[in-house]
Parts: sequence; C-alpha cells; structure tokens
Amino acid sequence: MRKILTTSALPYANGSIHLGHLVEYIQTDIWVRYQRLAGNEVHYICADDTHGTPVMLRAEKEGITPEELVDKVHKEHSQDFHDFNISFDNFYSTNSDENKMLSESMYESLKENKKIEIKEIEQFFDEQKNMFLPDRFIKGTCPKCNAKDQYGDSCEVCGTTYNPTDLIDAYSVLSGEKPVRRKTDHYFFKLSECSDFLEQWTQSDTLQTEASNKLQEWFSAGLNDWDISRDAPYFGFEIPGAPGKYFYVWLDAPIGYMASFMNYAKNNELSYDDFWKKGSDAELIHFIGKDILYFHALFWPATLNFSDHRTPSKIFAHGFLTVNGEKMSKSRGTFITARSYIECLKNPEYLRYYYFSKLNDSMEDIDLNLDDFIAKVNSDLVGKLVNIPSRTSGFISKFFNNMIMSSESFQTTEAKNLHGGILKIKDEVMKLFDQRQFSKASRLLISHVESVNEYVNNKEPWVLAKNESNHNEKSALHEICSASLMSFRLLSIYLSPVLPELTGKVAEFFNEEDFLSFDRLINEPISINKYEHLLKRIEQNDIDLMIKKNTQI
Ligand code: 2FM
Ligand code: ZN
Repeated sequence: MRKILTTSALPYANGSIHLGHLVEYIQTDIWVRYQRLAGNEVHYICADDTHGTPVMLRAEKEGITPEELVDKVHKEHSQDFHDFNISFDNFYSTNSDENKMLSESMYESLKENKKIEIKEIEQFFDEQKNMFLPDRFIKGTCPKCNAKDQYGDSCEVCGTTYNPTDLIDAYSVLSGEKPVRRKTDHYFFKLSECSDFLEQWTQSDTLQTEASNKLQEWFSAGLNDWDISRDAPYFGFEIPGAPGKYFYVWLDAPIGYMASFMNYAKNNELSYDDFWKKGSDAELIHFIGKDILYFHALFWPATLNFSDHRTPSKIFAHGFLTVNGEKMSKSRGTFITARSYIECLKNPEYLRYYYFSKLNDSMEDIDLNLDDFIAKVNSDLVGKLVNIPSRTSGFISKFFNNMIMSSESFQTTEAKNLHGGILKIKDEVMKLFDQRQFSKASRLLISHVESVNEYVNNKEPWVLAKNESNHNEKSALHEICSASLMSFRLLSIYLSPVLPELTGKVAEFFNEEDFLSFDRLINEPISINKYEHLLKRIEQNDIDLMIKKNTQI
C-alpha cells in the first residue's frame, strides 16, 4: 500500500474560484479518489493562501480587517469546493498558528544553515500611502515600446520584462502619485548556493520532461537569490527578530501545505513527522499549474532541503485553461466563476467529466469549448452511459421481480465476453488513472459503454419482451438485461473517481452501500431498485445564462 500526501495549489484568498482553478482541483481530486479506490493511504491537503498586499488592500477597500476578509473568502471557497465534490481531507488557511510556527522555524533553520542574507535594495515608495509598492502596483510607460499604462514587471504590448525603476513616468496604482525611490533592507534566501543540490534533485524523476527542460533553462541562466521579505504595512507573519519586516507571501504559502497537514494530523492521529522529516517513506505529491513551477521546483525543494525536511516526490504540473480557444475573458463572459456554474448548470459532474476527457500528464493547455462540452457530455453520459439502465432496467422490474442474474449464470459467449471484457480492463484502467492519462482512460471506458449499447441494439430486448409467454425468450431477455446492467455497474465503478455523485446513485440502484473500492468489482448484487433517471442533459439556455452572468462590460 502506498502512503501518499497530495496537495493542490493554495488558492489566493482575494478572489473567487473559477473554472480555470477547477482544472487543477478536479484533476487532483480524480487522482486522489482513484488512489482511495485502489486501496492506498492518501491524504489530500489544501488551504487558502491568505497573505500579501492584494488581500490587505482589498480588505481596506471593503472596510473590513484582512482577517475578516480571509474568513469570508474561506467560507465561499469551501462551499465552492464542496459543490464540485473536491474531497479535501483538510482545507485550511495559511493565516494559522501552525503556519506561523512552521514558517518561523523553517526560517530559523535556514538561518542556522547560513542560507539567509540581508541586502539593501532600492524600491519604489508611495509617500501618500506610506508604503513600498509591489511591481503590480506601479504602472508607467514601457521603456522599450513606449506603450502607456504598463505594469512594473513587464509590458503587455511588447512582452519585455524589466524592473519597475526602468518605467518611464511611473505612477502608483494606489494613489496615482509619482513614487519615490527609497532604500530598505530585505532578507534573501541564498538560492544561488543551491544549484548543485537542485540540479541533482531535478534528475530524480520528480518532474515531467517539459518541466525539467524548463529548469535546465533556469540553471543555465543562473539562479538569483530570492527576496523573502516585505516591509510593513503587509498582511502576513512578521519575521522573528526583524520588526517591521514580514515574510513574503510565497515564503509561507507552500509551508501552508505542511501547516494544513499538521492541523489535520493532530485531529486524525497521524504522525506529522512521518510525512515531513528527512528520509520519510511517504510520497509527497504536488499538483500545480505550470505558472508556479519556479516556486515549486526551485524555491520549495531548496528551502525544504536546507531546513532539514524531506523534498517532494513528484510535481505534477498542468497547463492553463482556455475557453472557446481563447484566454478567459471578463468581457466575453468566459471568466466563469465556480458559483455561477453551479447556479446555472447545477451539476458539477458535467465539468468533472469534460476535464477528465481532456486532461493528460502533460503541461499542455486544455480548451473548454462550450459547444463541444454540451455535445460531449450529452452524448457520452446521457446518450450512452445512463442510456444503458434506462433501456434495460424496466424489463428486470417488470418480468423478473427486480432480480438480476449473476454473471456466472450467463449462458451465451456474448454476454460472458461483454461483462468479462470490462472486468479484464481493470489493470489498464488503474494504470491510466495513476499516470494521469485521463483522456485515454475516458476513451477506453466510453468504448466499452458503446459496446454495451451496441449489444443492446443487436439483441433488441424490447422485441423479446413482447413475447412474454415463450420461456426461452424470457430467459434470454433476463440475460441480456442482466449482462447490460452488470456491465454498466462495472463501468460505473471505474468512473466513480470522476463522477462520485452519479455513481453513488448507481450504487444505490444496485442496493449497494458504495463503490469506494475496486474490491466492489467482484461483488455481485442480486437485485436492483426502481430506475430513476440519473442525469439530465445540459441545455444551451443554461450555458447562455452562465455566460451572461459572467459578462462585464
Ligand atoms: O498561484 C497561486 O494561486 C498561489 N496562491 C499558489 C500557492 S501554492 C502554494 F505554494 F502555496
Ligand atoms: Zn512595451
């Protein structure tokens, strides 16, 4: 049995969950549910990423404290994750006692290992707001192409990256004033001294090929020390022994993985050290988006290693989401919030299934094409999958008192092969899930769903059912419907990590408690309940309404 600690990236506490975020939570959740089904010990941990300037400023704008904002957003995020059936074992907060304690102790340990250095830097300062300005809060004219109103770190018009001090006519986004340059001491983590360790670590099969290629580029360019402090006012943890200096949000955010686990371990009689100390035999697996690879594949293993912790076993990075082939956009209404999806479409499993059918183990972007989404979900799930019981269960109820035949009693080779063929793909299905080859898994499973439908089409049980008095035809009818239903049942077990709600209802239909283990594959139910329609089609109107809700002019 594998012992796995899995994480999804921590969402920022200053915004709503949207369908882009959900690519990752759904991908991780399917993988985690699969590991549970396979009987592994897996703990799925997450938290809100609460610190930093944007949270502080948004709270100020709303006239509440950052803590109040963080609590409010935590409630919203928890509801969103719940409604999309994301099965975290703990969804915590980086603004917690555990995280403060762990961040401080990691910092102390890095300091002891001589990996912290203080350097004086010069930054833009807003005299009206009395604060240093993060790059994103400074705008000005691009020094390269002269485009106006560009951010302090890069130009959206020509793509050049630069320092905020290079901007022409820089101004503060907060006050509109011209910022002044001011010197200040910052704390740095000496990443430049970690390249030997990191180059070795990246060769340990921890990263996808695309990710390790990216790292080689970074190594060749040379690693810079990492600025881990910010000056007050800042919403975060003050650095011990450094009044007015705070840990930069990206320092304490990944430590939030540890803190959330610590909080969960305490309540569940698990050993924190078993998972985090050097030499731990547990797997530590992080699912992330490709945009935060630098943090997870450089800063994070380096800070873990030089503070005497274990390092991640795997980093699984995925690509971005486009909608209808384009970047999500507020004006086109394709920046779709999780909440608006639930309000309009009601059922999270359409999206879970669609992402499943698109995802693989690469960092390629995936596209949510809304026409394809409707067509695929309606065809695969409604037209094919739930079509099986809707075509066959009525005969079992009407003629056989709800009793199904066990697969051992199947007489014909066709029935035996249909059902046996689906049992036989177990290892392949398991491998595809484990390796995150979800789109391949979906094609394999749907091909079997299609075979069951073809079998029903060929056997025409409705014709046999007309001839009630013929004994042979009746037992043929019993076998056809049982083989179809038992096949449907197996396919539902395989699909349960993707469609926990739907397959939960399928388990009920077969009078079973749940489909939460692959051991279920070999159990055989003996009767069914009355078939209640399992899934309704996605309607174009609901999609239109959702887009309308998200459109901002
Ligand atoms: O990029 C983001 O949305 C960050 N909030 C992710 C943090 S992940 C972890 F390292 F904390
Ligand atoms: Zn430019």
